[in-house]
Amino acid sequence: MSDVDWESEFAKYRSSPEFKMLNSRMTLEEFKSIYWMEWIHRLWGRFIGLSFVLPAVYFVARKQVSRTMAMRLVGIAGLIGFQGFIGWWMVKSGLKDDLFAPGSHPRVSQYRLTAHLGAAFICYLAMLWNGLDILRTNKILRVSSDGANATLKALSNPALKPFKRYVSLLAGLVFITAMSGGLVAGLDAGLIYNEFPFMGLGLTPPKSELWDKFYCRAPDHSDLWWRNLLENPSLVQLDHRILATTTFTAVMALWAFSRSAAMQKILPRAAQKGVHGVVGFACLQVILGISTLLYLVPTGLASAHQAGSLALLTWTIVLGSRVWFPTQAARILAQRTITQVNLGGTGSEMAQRAALMSSAAKAKTLMPGSPTAVAAVGFMPAVTVIGLALASETEATVARRQLFSRKLEDHAVSGLGQTRSS
Ligand code: HEM
Repeated sequence: MSDVDWESEFAKYRSSPEFKMLNSRMTLEEFKSIYWMEWIHRLWGRFIGLSFVLPAVYFVARKQVSRTMAMRLVGIAGLIGFQGFIGWWMVKSGLKDDLFAPGSHPRVSQYRLTAHLGAAFICYLAMLWNGLDILRTNKILRVSSDGANATLKALSNPALKPFKRYVSLLAGLVFITAMSGGLVAGLDAGLIYNEFPFMGLGLTPPKSELWDKFYCRAPDHSDLWWRNLLENPSLVQLDHRILATTTFTAVMALWAFSRSAAMQKILPRAAQKGVHGVVGFACLQVILGISTLLYLVPTGLASAHQAGSLALLTWTIVLGSRVWFPTQAARILAQRTITQVNLGGTGSEMAQRAALMSSAAKAKTLMPGSPTAVAAVGFMPAVTVIGLALASETEATVARRQLFSRKLEDHAVSGLGQTRSS
């Protein structure tokens, strides 16, 4: 860009609430650095979209995937597009004129930031789930029929049900904890109470600070509880601590459950190893979270903490994929068996096939045409979505660092500017 172009872009930024109220001393050179970050982030988003859509169109056009898988690919492409829309909607919230009002804090809405994070997670999970499903189906079908039947039999054991339910609930809990982390980041709530496990004089801040009427908008204060839960930085940080502690405890309880004599007998070896992975990522995540807090949210640690949440969620889903019943594999095996039944067989073989066919009847999805190819389509963007999340973190944290150092300079660190975000 020419100097004139830079000046024109800088002039636009100078008219924003963020510049006027927080960064009024920013130089053109400093502006260029945040501009490039934003630009790379948006370019990266487009690259992700194309890297998914182009191969998907190819595979669908070449009829390499089943109808069901084609519909799923369309759904994921829609999610990527939706992610772009939420990004635009989020940025818009940081440009509203009411952010010039005294007492407000110019930054994007924490709700929209969390929606952006949540949509990225959902998009990633959709890719991961389909990729794992295909790889697993492929793996089961590659072994001999006897081996595959043994796997299906082990996974349809009703005694495994509580473990499967536990893993699903844990995945939900990790997701909710991650979203509460989005609110912490959106409110810069990690810049207060930089100690652990205490928050000020006790384990929690005083009640009057947690349930503050300042955040209410309804004249009768009927919105006291939910506004504070979602908009008061002190309570939002406490929410995140409580959810994180619950998640960590749930992971350790899952580990203990998996070590029980009953589970040791029926849990597949891959799942037993998977539980160790989940425990490892949960420990790492808690260490990263506490370090992020103690060191006043440095960019590197905050990014690692964000990536760690995705790693923990990924590993929980991988664990799930090792215990959930592989309906696609069962269906394909049953189709193969029908052919063999037509060819005859002993009484016990016929009975075994009949059982397989009934489990296959539960299958809702169709066999994808080319498993390895679709796995490639699914995993590449998954990796890029992690990049997207990291890029957004870097961008957000750089802006925050600037704000914080300026605040320090101005000796104005006497508490976070209270805000009424929309
Ligand atoms: C299972 C455990 C945890 C999960 C899944 C989790 C997840 C997350 C996520 C996804 C974010 C948002 C990152 C962003 O968008 O920038 C976040 C932010 C944060 N978390 Fe956690 N977290 C966990 C545990 C903890 C713990 C134990 C602490 C410390 C007590 C902590 C402190 C923070 C802080 C300070 C932030 C704000 C970082 C920023 O401003 O960028 N987290 N967390």
